[in-house]
Amino acid sequence: MTTRRGFLGLLAGAAGLGTAGFVVGGQAGNNGLLRSRRPLPEPFTVPLPIPQVKRPTRVDGGVEYYTVVQRAADVEILPGARTKIWGYDGTFPGPTFHLRQGRKAVVEVRNELDVPTSTHLHGGVTPPESDGYPTDLVKPFAAKTYTYPVSQRAATLWYHDHRMDYTAPQVWRGLAGLCLVGDAEEDALDLPRDKYDVPLLLTDRAFDEDGAFLYPASHSGMGVEKDYANGVLGDVVLVNGAPWPVLDVDATRYRLRIVNGSNARRYELALDPGGDLVQIGSDAGLLGAPQVHQSLVVAPGERFDVLVDFAAYPVGTEVAVADRLGGQVMRFKVARPGPASAPVPERLAAFDKLDTSVVTRSFDFRTTMEHHGARMWTINGQMYAPGEIIATPRLGTVERWRLTSDFHHPVHLHLAHFQVISRGGGGPLPRDAGWKDTVDIRPYETVEVLARFDGHRGRYMMHCHNLEHEDMAMMADFFVG
Ligand code: C2O
Ligand code: CU
Ligand code: CU
Repeated sequence: MTTRRGFLGLLAGAAGLGTAGFVVGGQAGNNGLLRSRRPLPEPFTVPLPIPQVKRPTRVDGGVEYYTVVQRAADVEILPGARTKIWGYDGTFPGPTFHLRQGRKAVVEVRNELDVPTSTHLHGGVTPPESDGYPTDLVKPFAAKTYTYPVSQRAATLWYHDHRMDYTAPQVWRGLAGLCLVGDAEEDALDLPRDKYDVPLLLTDRAFDEDGAFLYPASHSGMGVEKDYANGVLGDVVLVNGAPWPVLDVDATRYRLRIVNGSNARRYELALDPGGDLVQIGSDAGLLGAPQVHQSLVVAPGERFDVLVDFAAYPVGTEVAVADRLGGQVMRFKVARPGPASAPVPERLAAFDKLDTSVVTRSFDFRTTMEHHGARMWTINGQMYAPGEIIATPRLGTVERWRLTSDFHHPVHLHLAHFQVISRGGGGPLPRDAGWKDTVDIRPYETVEVLARFDGHRGRYMMHCHNLEHEDMAMMADFFVG
């Protein structure tokens, strides 16, 4: 039997598809931290960029048509340096899509990169042929039209590359952006909007001397250097593509949509000098009622929609977003008075708590050594094989999935949204609230979720959203029938 690595190596060789142009970097014994080879930028000097909003090229019969081009571009991320990125529309992050519940969106993605891509809308309830399956590749200079019915509720989604075996380096290069779904239920709440509704896409990166992104690709071009098998951590935190940025804010309430788009880094976000993070939404939409946190752990793939009231600080205060797991993220500067903060609504969205399931399934997320010494990541002892079905939930049913792990594994399901019902034998954590599509499983922990398989029949997947684990086989297909 051909091993997966051998087989894929052949495929990659045959098609001439390597991890094009990455510098191979990294030292041993670094816990996955990849150090930049140039002085780090001064924090809190670069203004926070807000990604541009994507406009449809046309609207026809209530359907919105978009075209987006994946291409390389030279951009200034570090002051005074140029970084080559791969971006949707040549930007990193890509443009933000504003979709609307009940309004279908048809998106043509044109690939002008020299590698194949597959675009996945993370959190989307998407038909299988548009879901960005890892081997549904868009070849260089080809295009694919993705159709999104957008039947789901208001939520903060994001999109990113999902190419088989190369998701981690291709997202690292910049292939990610945001997609905000709106609906009438959300409109009826008086939530901060427009410039008071700020997306924050967190990604960590490392840079070469000349400003290029550094990534520790293995010498074979397949996967990551073995010292980084736990996941690659950069030493610079980018928010919306800018290093440790600063945003001047009015002294009023803001809505911050926090998206962890990092390959492997978890953050524990807290305001310094203190302050409430009032969570109103999780991965798949608004909560039933707000939930107040002093700090929030955010794993790769997760989203937290929070309200922060900058009127709580005197004008002139600098409010840092610190990462209690190791550093800084960004700063807000309360620059001027603002409109009176609207009260936080006591009730948010209709929320049905799930309590029954038709079946229980167990999935164990664990590392393994391949016979020639490469570390791989498995689900129920299996390395990913496209098309091999691990579960067959029936459309419209709720299943209890019991997830266990040997490490930090942010487990993500395509299509199905779920509710966390237990953690380590006890109740869920406050941060597990609401409808989710990604859950942070900690080392040697058991987490149970009730997942609702709704919307479409067909082949979907679950995987670890640590992108290095994902590329190293921690994925599995399920089939909704
Ligand atoms: Cu955001 Cu299949 O991933
Ligand atoms: Cu997804
Ligand atoms: Cu993992």
